[in-house]
Amino acid sequence: MAGDSPDTVYGRLLESVHISGYTMERACIGLEYLLDENRWKSVGVGFDDIDAFSKSIDLSQFRIAVDRRKKLAKRLEEIGATQRATAKALGVTHTTVQRDLGTSVPKKNQKPRDSEKESPSSGTNVPMPLSVSGPQIMRTAENRQERQKKSVSTKDPVIGEARIDLRHGDFKEVLSDIEDGSVSLLLTDPPYGKKFLDLWKDLGKFAARVLSPTGILVAYSGQMYLQECLSALSENLLYWWTGAILHKSPGLSPLGQPVRKVINGWKPLLMYIRKDGKGVQEVFRDLVRGEGQEKDAHNWQQPVSEAAWIIEQFTQPGELVVDPMAGSGTVGVACENTARSFIGAELNG
Ligand SMILES: C[S@@+](CC[C@H](N)C(=O)[O-])C[C@H]1O[C@@H](n2cnc3c(N)ncnc32)[C@H](O)[C@@H]1O
Repeated sequence: MAGDSPDTVYGRLLESVHISGYTMERACIGLEYLLDENRWKSVGVGFDDIDAFSKSIDLSQFRIAVDRRKKLAKRLEEIGATQRATAKALGVTHTTVQRDLGTSVPKKNQKPRDSEKESPSSGTNVPMPLSVSGPQIMRTAENRQERQKKSVSTKDPVIGEARIDLRHGDFKEVLSDIEDGSVSLLLTDPPYGKKFLDLWKDLGKFAARVLSPTGILVAYSGQMYLQECLSALSENLLYWWTGAILHKSPGLSPLGQPVRKVINGWKPLLMYIRKDGKGVQEVFRDLVRGEGQEKDAHNWQQPVSEAAWIIEQFTQPGELVVDPMAGSGTVGVACENTARSFIGAELNG
């Protein structure tokens, strides 16, 4: 660090993912250096706000040792960074930061800091009164969710009461009562095969109706029929962005392998908004670093931690997240862990 200007250190932090040999140790030293003596204020375009600075950093590519991470989280808290901005800088979930700072379970009578309060719900974002329906799926889902909660409990403790409603049936029917414009995030993982392409059109229609003006659809997809999936969604929605989940262990692509010979290392996340939507209002990250497969509840199960990461990028606690093709209920569990309300549907009980 000696002799380097704060700008040089900041530039290296931003580019760290591309610099070979750049280690977690160096990244942490760099960040600590910038946090000392308010050096962070003078770097890049210049920052007035510690949150804006924190959100510009991304250490998610490194596995930071827990002690080091706690120290950085504490330091950022002292300077006045919100937990959400700290989570972005350190590349972990909000719940991890809460745990690191010992604020996972709010103490009685403890007022939240202004910056940690939930944003006031707009008329369209008021969480719906959720009902429980579909006893068969609920029973199955409860068992699966119990298993999943156990499997993530050391990483993502349940932090609040989320209302979770997983229904059994075709989403076009069992989710027809969801209020127009009420959903902040539609996070779903439709089947990827050719015979399911019509589902993507139905998903686009459903999203166009239920998404709030600032809401977003994030759909996991494969690559084999990517072009068709994009066309199907574009019929009713506006393309926003493509994100990616980086697989921890690349493998043969089940759909693409026989024809395209691919060792598949990432999964697209297709992001769409309403055609008349306002779009995403806050800066978000488009790369999710996978933590490895979880397939104990469903063959197609996605990891809870990855879903939680996406949910925290796009929503505030209490907002409504919907997964119309819920499988084992991964998104529901992630919502419960992050205190979001959830409604989901699954065809198979
Ligand atoms: C890829 S899996 C989802 C896996 C899920 N992400 C998980 O982590 O367990 C897709 C699911 O969509 C369901 N599905 C397909 N068509 C549906 C429909 N019209 N309504 C509700 N669910 C549907 C399938 O039964 C399947 O379980």
